[in-house]
Amino acid sequence: PLTARANDHDRLEIGGCDVVTLVEQFGSPLYIVDEDTLREGARQYRDLFARYYPGQSQVLYASKAWNCLAICAIVGQENLGIDVVSGGELYTALEAGLPPEKMYLHGNNKSKEELQMAVASGCTVVADNWQDLHQLVAIAKETPDSAIRIMLRFTPGIECHTHEYIRTGHLDSKFGFDPDQIEEVFAFVQQHPILTCIGLHAHIGSQIFERQPHRDLAGVMVQWLKQAAAYQLPITELNVGGGLGIRYTESDDPPSIEEWVKGVSAAIIEACESQQVALPKLLCEPGRSLIGPACVTAYTLGAQKQVPGIRTYLSVDGGMSDNPRPITYQSVYRAVVANRMSAPLTETVTIAGKHCESGDIVIHQASLPKTESGDILVVMTTGAYNYSMASNYNRVPRPAAVLVNDGIANIILARETYEDLIRQDRLPERLAHLS
Ligand code: LLP
Repeated sequence: PLTARANDHDRLEIGGCDVVTLVEQFGSPLYIVDEDTLREGARQYRDLFARYYPGQSQVLYASKAWNCLAICAIVGQENLGIDVVSGGELYTALEAGLPPEKMYLHGNNKSKEELQMAVASGCTVVADNWQDLHQLVAIAKETPDSAIRIMLRFTPGIECHTHEYIRTGHLDSKFGFDPDQIEEVFAFVQQHPILTCIGLHAHIGSQIFERQPHRDLAGVMVQWLKQAAAYQLPITELNVGGGLGIRYTESDDPPSIEEWVKGVSAAIIEACESQQVALPKLLCEPGRSLIGPACVTAYTLGAQKQVPGIRTYLSVDGGMSDNPRPITYQSVYRAVVANRMSAPLTETVTIAGKHCESGDIVIHQASLPKTESGDILVVMTTGAYNYSMASNYNRVPRPAAVLVNDGIANIILARETYEDLIRQDRLPERLAHLS
């Protein structure tokens, strides 16, 4: 986070709050969100589009990265719109008071209830497939007063080098219409003016470091705009998705937000000029690059195990339930010890989670100072797809999250309790007596 530094007590401080004190106050493990980092990223995206793109633009926060009331409220205050992918994310964004005209509902298998909810609230629907279009036409007929705004998502057929689970732009992807069907889709929408088609969407993947794929995407999408012109659709928006990668470890070298915005803007402008298409309103939907760097997870170190000549395991009080990314994508993280910030990094250890699974390793090779049980280990850059993918595996309650700013810490997610864990359990009467 922008505001992370070692304070005079040799401890990690974020947002003006001493991390060791935060853990004493709010418990462990603890997600700590730095408000300044999130706001600064949002402002950068917004202001840089204003600088580099002469047309209108709108940045949407891809809330799948972390969706809860407080995070929605912050991005809303920064005038970002929001991308939601389920009824639950939509519900949260609405409850946070975000304006529906800046909400976009995604998903490759939206239920009729989710579509109805989006239409009733005034959220734009990103139609991903024929089922979406047919269901939307049916909803439009059932609720004749509703104005239904849609975008059309196509698979762009652009390859990029990222983990295969988070690539979406290649043609063999479950998301979006196949571009071979583009004329058919445009014709359908033209024949159903009950749906107002305002734009086109594509997304190529996540945690992308290469510069070229998004520029290629811009060219492909402007070509689609040109094709759409023949159908007299009210299309004015292009959404190029999200995907900008972030720096988890020293060796990661992603483009800056500025480089990304500048590159995408220039590619759209150039393609529009060469294909003689009017500049569209440009949308993008970053998730990871906004919230990822804004959060850290503080754990307490516990048991140690030395495997002679091989490694030392240091176990923490969380793991794959609060951060499933290492076990899912072999993601690599960096950690510091919050109460020994200036101690020399003399040890190479394996940070293990507490779950009953050998693969539950938070960091395979962490460079740390000498530690003791009770020390506070802080894993950096955990804002994206940690809380949002967290589970109760092994019936471990989800951690609390605090928002820090200027020395003040506010709870934004209360720690789950054991009672929370059995709240949805039901015990049929015939099982109520053990004997
Ligand atoms: N737009 C769409 C349509 C998306 O599918 C995604 C991410 C985004 C925007 C935001 O992408 P970002 O800027 O965050 O890269 N759980 C995986 C990442 C899954 C990404 C899914 N879609 C992970 O932990 O790496």
